[in-house]
Formats: sequence, C-alpha cells, structure tokens
Amino acid sequence: MTNPPESNAELQQTARRNLWMHFTRMSAYTDSDIPVIVRGSGPYVFDNHGRRYLDGLSGLFVSQVGHGRTEIADAAHRQASQLAYFPLWSYAHPQAIELSERLAGLAPGDLNRVFFTTSGSEAVESAWKLAKQYFKLTGQPERYKVLSRDIAYHGTSMGALAITGLADIKYPFEPLPPGGVRVPNTNFYRAPDFVADDITDFGRWAADEIERAILREGPESVAAVFLEPVQNSGGCFPPPPGYFARVREICDTYGVLLVSDEVICAFGRLGHYFGSARYGYQPDIITFAKGLTSGYSPLGGMLVRDAIMEPFNRGTATFLHGVTFAGHPVSAAVALANLDIFEKEDLLGNVRANEGAFRATLEKLYDLPIVGDIRGDGYFYGIEMVKNKDTRETFSDEESERLLRGFLSTALFDAGLVCRADDRGDPVIQLAPPLICGQEHFDEIEHILRNVLTEAWERI
Ligand SMILES: Cc1ncc(COP(=O)(O)O)c(C=O)c1O
Repeated sequence: MTNPPESNAELQQTARRNLWMHFTRMSAYTDSDIPVIVRGSGPYVFDNHGRRYLDGLSGLFVSQVGHGRTEIADAAHRQASQLAYFPLWSYAHPQAIELSERLAGLAPGDLNRVFFTTSGSEAVESAWKLAKQYFKLTGQPERYKVLSRDIAYHGTSMGALAITGLADIKYPFEPLPPGGVRVPNTNFYRAPDFVADDITDFGRWAADEIERAILREGPESVAAVFLEPVQNSGGCFPPPPGYFARVREICDTYGVLLVSDEVICAFGRLGHYFGSARYGYQPDIITFAKGLTSGYSPLGGMLVRDAIMEPFNRGTATFLHGVTFAGHPVSAAVALANLDIFEKEDLLGNVRANEGAFRATLEKLYDLPIVGDIRGDGYFYGIEMVKNKDTRETFSDEESERLLRGFLSTALFDAGLVCRADDRGDPVIQLAPPLICGQEHFDEIEHILRNVLTEAWERI
C-alpha cells in the first residue's frame, strides 16, 4: 500500500512521475507547478494552497448546480450501499428506469427512449452507430455519412473524432472512419462578405450549405447531421434566426437524421433542459452527458424517438452496442438528485432571469481594444480577442501562442478565475459558470477579465 502524497512538493513530484493529464502539454509543467484542486463549494473551487477560484467554466461545462452539494453525495452513498453496480445488458435497475422516464418527460417532442453511455464521446459514437444500423435495418444500407460543422468538437473516440471538425486533433489519428463531411459553422462575426450584413441571410446560407453537401455526397449515402444548439468550439456560436428551421426542413427532405449534440447545451446551460427547446427545433436524436449529473458521477446517453427504435423491436433485431458502465446505478441516482435540485431551486428560471445581466456585464468589456466579439446565450459565452477591432484582424499563430499559452491561461487562473483561453478557431475566452451564479459572480468575472485583458494588450 502506498501513502497518499500530502505536501505540495510530494503531490507535484508524484503527478510528474505518474499522472498523464488530458489535452495537456506535459512539458509546460517541467518547471512550474501543476494546479491541484482539492475541494469545491458553490461556484468556487480551492487549490491545495487554500486559494479560491471562481469556477467560470463549471469545471468543463459540467458543474451546473455547483460544488459541495451533500444531498447528491448522500444519494450516491445510498445507492452504492444498496446496489453499486449491475449492467444494463439484458437487465435493468430502478434508477435507470426512473431516470429514463424523467428524461423522456423533459425532452422535446416525442423523444422518449433513452440509451445510456458514460460520456459525451460515447453518446456521439452511439448516435452514429445507431443511425448506421437503423438505416441497414430499414432498407437503406448505403447511408453511413455524417455532416458536422467546421471547428466543432464532438468528442475523441475514433467515430466521434471523425465527426469532430478540428483538423489538428484529428491528424495524429488518421485514417479515421470514413464518412465525416464538413459544413460551415454559424460564426457570424467571421461570415463571408456576401452574407456579412444580415444575420438571417447568413443563417439561410449556412443551412443551405448543408443541403448542398447532402446533394454533393449523394442523399442516399448520408445518415445524419450532427449539430450543437450553440457550437462550443470556436467560441460559442448561437444559431442565426431561422437556421434550425431550415436545417429541419432539409433533413426531412432528404431523409437524414438530425442529431442535436447537447453534451454542453442541455441541463440548463441555455436556460432550458435541452438546447433544442430553446431554439424551437425537433431533433431525431439528442446526445447528452456533462450537466446531467453536475459531475458528481459520470453519465451520458442519447434520447431517440420510438420510430427509430421500432425496427429494433422486431424478431432477432438488436442494437449491437453497449458499454459496461452505461447507466451506472450510482450515476443514475446522482442524476435524479441533481434534477431534484434543478426543480427545487428553479435553476432554469435563474438562468433565464439572469442571462441578460450576464451578457450586459460581459459587454462592458467592449471598451477594451482587444475585445472583438462577445457572443453566446444563457450561461454560455465566448469572447473573441482581436488585434484590430476595426478590421477584425486576428493574431498570428505566434502571437496567439504567446498570448494564450504564454500569458492568458496562467494569468486568469492566478487572478482567481477558471475559464478557457482557446485558439482552436480564432483566439477566444470561454465562460460557462454554474447555473447558481448571479450578478456578484458576473461582476467578479468581468473584473478579473478586465485586469488580465488590459495587461495582455500591453504585452502584445
Ligand atoms: C458537443 C460535445 N460533444 C461531445 C463531447 C465529448 O464528451 P466527453 O468529453 O464526455 O467524451 C463534448 C465534450 O466537451 C462536447 O462538447
């Protein structure tokens, strides 16, 4: 048995020796400490030196109800004591049954069948596999392709990565499963000139590009379109007016399934249980994860309508897919306790009541020369940084590297704010605070951003 490391020196030494962090340049920590977060309370987390940080990203778009909720921990404890594990392979348990009913009740329209996973990548992977097998069972075996948007992130497993639109994180793992096709995203700030003056025209063009891609690929070969309600990667692109109505129409015309990837946008992030409800469109499949449990235990899944499941209800037909921990009893119990908090504290109401104030507080930053665009909805915002506000000129790769990795990420954290400084598209800072936040937290975010972005501009 090993003794748990306690002092910072011990933690650092052991982490450097044994731990491999995700999407992390490990070399960045050769000479500097790895941040070690030890506890959380409400919208704040604390490191092993006792320093407090406002969790402006809800961990990773996860901690909707905030940290330190003992009622969820108690639900996990009770469930683990009663039945810690049993698979959903040919068996069920009451927690998965109850949660599936509850999710069906919250989902838009007729989505009433829940297939659980443990993560968002698995949810996306499952949705693609379901689409492929569904079409094989219904006499359209050549439909396998999937459309998704430029720069969109849909996960890291091989299938999900083929749907992801970020070239840099795909390249090391190529060849990927064939069939991933890119269409434009809805970044109006970077709209092509011919639709740059009118957001509705822009949205119409972006949606029509989906139709053009379907026609180019051959409609008989296209299985699904994967879209987030608000695209995360690139810095929070909300849908232009009319965009999803047109996409729905296109999907219906060509018999293509519309998959709403709500791994981030569900469970209150946009003030609704599901992001598609906010924008009034009806998906065929919703993928979800993250906020369902507020991170107290991992859980993901997909919601589909009976019509998609119907071919699997006949004879020997089986959806030949599953994972050991999907719908884990402890995670399902945690999700139910999490949703109880949503109801008791009216978290959706809190987001809807305060989202205008969140936007208005962030928009104060427009007086800074580095702030080009502030965009998002609900409690989900991106701030695009530019070198020249008038021309919208962005930073070179070298400047971006110096700005984001060399300064901003560390400076924001040192100033007490967890958020994301990202350059997977143009350089952005992203914010997604817990849904319990209010004006005092927005002010704290604005204050820290103002100081750090002012210094960043001076350093360029
Ligand atoms: C839209 C979307 N889909 C899928 C995923 C993958 O989820 P996970 O990291 O749980 O595998 C993410 C993760 O951030 C996401 O944002």
